[in-house]
Amino acid sequence: MTRTHPRSWLFIPADSEKKLMKAPETGAHAIIVDLEDSVAFAAKAGARRTARDWLEAHKRQITTRKQARWVRINAVETGLWRDDLAAIMAGAPDGIMLPKAEGPEQIRLVAAEIYEHEQRNGLPNGHVRILPLVSETARAALTITSYVEASMPRLAGLTWGAEDLSAAIGASRKRDAAGQWTDTFRFIRAQTLLAAHARDVWAIDTLHADFRDEEGCRRAAEAARGDGFTGMLAIHPVQVPIINAAFAPTEAELAEAEAIVAAFAANPGAGTLQLDGRMIDQPHLKQARALLGIEAAPVRPL
Ligand code: COA
Ligand code: MG
Repeated sequence: MTRTHPRSWLFIPADSEKKLMKAPETGAHAIIVDLEDSVAFAAKAGARRTARDWLEAHKRQITTRKQARWVRINAVETGLWRDDLAAIMAGAPDGIMLPKAEGPEQIRLVAAEIYEHEQRNGLPNGHVRILPLVSETARAALTITSYVEASMPRLAGLTWGAEDLSAAIGASRKRDAAGQWTDTFRFIRAQTLLAAHARDVWAIDTLHADFRDEEGCRRAAEAARGDGFTGMLAIHPVQVPIINAAFAPTEAELAEAEAIVAAFAANPGAGTLQLDGRMIDQPHLKQARALLGIEAAPVRPL
């Protein structure tokens, strides 16, 4: 089955040439070169140059779509983001991740600036997409549904993060004693998922911060896929194969999807059938066809 959208999204700090060199061998479907929280203020200018050089060096991958190249710029409120874009847009990134996004107006502000740089750099209008982090302040987290209706043609997906918000609200824990997200984060995670699907864009689950905990990352990635996310963020190369594996359909899922499609093909005109004693109807058929790549998955392809 061909992959139509990135599953694993690996952050790499833009001030680390060494880590950037490793990007291709990590197997990440998308790299997010980070100019924001993983780069100290004094290192921003150098990081912008390193990011641009890396984007340039990997430009030819645009045609093969092997590894998408994204950049996380600094938040609108910092005032750094315009210089970030000015430095990196010559490298023709596939998209821009916008942290601490506070709603559609900020997306449109950044989109307008991106448009200017596309013109200047000879890129097709709309080439560079936008992926906002929608949950990083309390106010932002309460307005996630505002992304559903607003006009934002560059919007590629929605993703969320727990770190900044927990600092913003003074939460000393993000998970409960059983290891589940606390209410605040479950609320945000569900809204991100639903708003993304309501808009027909990617829904990308947040990262598993403890990168030494491979078992926890596997559980998180399986939960992400099981809940309907289309991909997941990563911070360490060890997490990438775990995420890729969790999002790949299993043999059993493929076999079941084939059986569902075959059952409806054998009963043309039937709206509902049974398969091994279970009812199957049109939503099952739709999901089976999507899994087998017979029809587009319910999100926009890359
Ligand atoms: N991308 C590419 N390579 C990475 C990497 C990443 N995100 N994180 C680690 N590596 C490399 C390291 O350079 C190291 O390479 P080496 O074996 O040749 O020395 C190897 O993987 C093992 O790394 P490890 O020693 O386990 O971790 P570390 O102490 O070097 O790095 C972090 C730990 C958290 C600093 C690092 O994983 C990182 O920078 N992650 C991304 C942080 C980020 O972008 N945050 C913003 C989003 S929240
Ligand atoms: Mg942050």
